[in-house]
Amino acid sequence: VDPKREKLFALYSDATVLYHHILVNTDTGEAALAYATQRNLNTTLLDTFQIGFAPQQRDLLITFFKEKQTDFQLLRQSGLFIENDDGTLRDRFVGRLMFPIRDEQGRVIAFSGRILQVAENQPKYLNSPETDLFNKRDVLFNFDLAKSEIRKAKRVILFEGFMDVIAAFQAGVKNGVASMGTSLTNEQLYHLRRATDQLVVCYDGDAPGMKATNRVIELLKDDQRFNLSIVTLPEQLDPDEYVKKYGSEQFQNEVTNSLETAPAFRLHFLKQNRNLDNEQDKIAYINDALQELVLVPSAVERDVYLNQLSEELHVSYTALVQQLQQLLKKTT
Ligand code: CTP
Ligand code: MN
Ligand code: MN
Ligand code: MN
Ligand code: MN
Repeated sequence: VDPKREKLFALYSDATVLYHHILVNTDTGEAALAYATQRNLNTTLLDTFQIGFAPQQRDLLITFFKEKQTDFQLLRQSGLFIENDDGTLRDRFVGRLMFPIRDEQGRVIAFSGRILQVAENQPKYLNSPETDLFNKRDVLFNFDLAKSEIRKAKRVILFEGFMDVIAAFQAGVKNGVASMGTSLTNEQLYHLRRATDQLVVCYDGDAPGMKATNRVIELLKDDQRFNLSIVTLPEQLDPDEYVKKYGSEQFQNEVTNSLETAPAFRLHFLKQNRNLDNEQDKIAYINDALQELVLVPSAVERDVYLNQLSEELHVSYTALVQQLQQLLKKTT
């Protein structure tokens, strides 16, 4: 064991306990607790995810660790503080609901803090900087708790944010993880692959969410390791909002029975914002759709989509096949 690593783990653990205590037991945490409650974070969830509150006070954590006589270099390396001009330290996180980020073994290695009231000049979420223990590209939020559930369900569900992971967990969908506010990485895929080869993407139903879904499809193109499926939530909702609006049962139903293949998602995506009653739009869509189907390696699968397109657009199946054959010839 590396003693410095162990000391950092202990430091994050102490910070987690302190922030959690402030949220659930103190007057200082009252407003944050009200916010958490309004977001459906009940006591069990606050405990399970060790959610806390960093109050509006720049010296809470630093004073706590100074009193414990924690090594100054260790404090500097923890990422939980900002260095003042005179070399002293102040707390990095203030006035934020604190979500501990755990590694695969369940040890806290970083925090993400959400501001209670979104304001223009401050980021909604503030994350710990990267440290020896915290490599964003490597970490999946909730992977430690989800791993056994992923194996049981034989699939993992990838969400955009940790509030989504937590809402899904509360709704009984416990095989969910989120990448750390960045695009999905190959490192994260490597970790996931050890638990399952079935990857379900359930990002926010808004434009950025769909864009991010496209990026996952691009990343997994030609990747034989995973079978990818996609859930697109209606009304631009994110999973957290969906659960709040439609309840747990309907959410479970969405993530089990509304799965699309990647090409089906792509066809839906390309159809967006097009008026199929307009001939120009319709022809443009058909061209895009066929261009997409060129990328589908299986002839049988291609045929399924061609049939759908033919029916939906009232275009002859033969014409679609002909044009697709031409495109296929061009690319080989
Ligand atoms: N994110 C971030 N910094 C921001 C905004 C977003 O790191 N300023 C990351 C967070 O990990 C967040 C994810 O991107 O969870 C998705 O962003 P968004 O959908 O805006 O946040 P929500 O998860 O929906 O957060 P909330 O419900 O609390 O508004
Ligand atoms: Mn690793
Ligand atoms: Mn979003
Ligand atoms: Mn969201
Ligand atoms: Mn949200």
